[in-house]
Amino acid sequence: MEFRHLGRSGLMVSEISYGNWLTHGSQVEEDAAKKCVKAALDEGITTFDTADVYAGTKAEEVLGRALNGVRRESLEIFTKVYWPTGPGRNDRGLSRKHITESINGSLRRLQTDYVDLYQAHRFDVETPLEETLKTFDDLVRQGKVLYIGVSEWTADQIAQALKIADEMGFDRLVSNQPQYSMLWRVIESEVVPLSEKEGVGQIVWSPIGQGVLTGKYVPGQQPPEGSRATDKSGSAMISRFMKDDVLARVQELKPVAADLGVSMAQLAIAWVLQNPNVSSAIIGASRPEQVRDNVKAAGVKLEDGVLQRIDEILGDVVERDPSKTVSPRSRP
Ligand SMILES: NC(=O)c1ccc[n+]([C@@H]2O[C@H](COP(=O)([O-])OP(=O)(O)OC[C@H]3O[C@@H](n4cnc5c(N)ncnc54)[C@H](OP(=O)(O)O)[C@@H]3O)[C@@H](O)[C@H]2O)c1
Repeated sequence: MEFRHLGRSGLMVSEISYGNWLTHGSQVEEDAAKKCVKAALDEGITTFDTADVYAGTKAEEVLGRALNGVRRESLEIFTKVYWPTGPGRNDRGLSRKHITESINGSLRRLQTDYVDLYQAHRFDVETPLEETLKTFDDLVRQGKVLYIGVSEWTADQIAQALKIADEMGFDRLVSNQPQYSMLWRVIESEVVPLSEKEGVGQIVWSPIGQGVLTGKYVPGQQPPEGSRATDKSGSAMISRFMKDDVLARVQELKPVAADLGVSMAQLAIAWVLQNPNVSSAIIGASRPEQVRDNVKAAGVKLEDGVLQRIDEILGDVVERDPSKTVSPRSRP
C-alpha cells in the first residue's frame, strides 16, 4: 500500500480506502462484510469510510464490529452526517442539534472514542454555515473528531466555508468527498483547482463507477447474478451508467488494461490516483477477492499516452459538467 497526506493536513491515509455504502448491513451478510474488512487490513488498507445513514445506521455497527480488536492508532476511521437517520424533523441536516446527536450515535456504533475525519455528507441550505462550522469546531475541541471535511460540495461552498473558518478561527476543512472516475469528472474544472490552492484533498467515491468500469456489465446482456445492478437498492444507484453506449465504450478499455497487465478495476482506480489532488480512492467490495484485486492499483503509474488512449475511447460518454455537483434544495 502507498500512503498520502489528507489534503494539506498532517494525517496520512492509505491511497486506497475501503467504504461500506450499500454493502454492510444491506447487500452482503455480516460474515462477507467481515471478510472484506479483513482482506482490506491484510492488504495494508488503514482508512475506512462509512456514514451514519448507510443501511439505516447498520453499516457503522457492522464496521465497528469488524474493526473491533484492531489497534485504534493504526486506523483512520471516517464517517459522515447530513442524510436522515430517523423520522424526526431534526434527525437530518447540519444543525447543531443533529450534528451533536449524530456524532454520539456514530461513536457508539463504531465502538470508538473519536473519528479521524467527520464529513458533512451534503451542503445544508437550511442551516447557517457558521452554525455547522462552529459545531464541527466544538467537536474537534472535545476530541470526538480529529479533522473535518465535506462531501459533494461545490467549489463555491468550499470557498465560503474556508473564508468563515479563517475569519472566525475555526478548524479548516481538509477534505472533500466527491464522485470521481474516468466516467465522472465533474470536479476537474472548479473543485480541484480551488482545493489545490487551499490544501483540500479529495477522497473520491465510486472510482470504478460502482463496478461498471470492471467491464462486467456487457451491453444487451443481463447483469451478472449477485452484482450491484441486480441488488434492490444498488440497481437504482448504478442505473446512471447502465446505458449501452457507456457499457460499449467500457468494453473497449479491455485491451488498454491487458497491454498494461492490470485488471480493469485496477486501471480505473489507478486512473483516479494519477490526479495529485486525490488523497485516497474509496473502493467498495461485496467479496474479499475484489478487495485483493483492487488494492493492486496502489502505486501504478499511467503514462500520458495511456491517459490519452482512455480519453479517445470514452469520448463523449464522460460527464464533465461542474453543475452536476448538487446538494438537495431543501432538507431531505
Ligand atoms: N460521499 C458520498 O456521497 C458517497 C456516495 C457513494 C459512495 N461513497 C463512498 O465510496 C465508497 C465506494 O463506493 P462504491 O461502492 O460505489 O465504489 P466502487 O469501488 O466504484 O464500486 C464497488 C462495487 O463494484 C463491484 N466491484 C468492486 N471491485 C470489483 C472487481 N474487482 N470486480 C468486479 N466487481 C467489483 C462490487 O459490487 P458488486 O459485486 O455488488 O457488483 C463493489 O461493491 C462507499 O462505500 C462509500 O464509502 C460516498
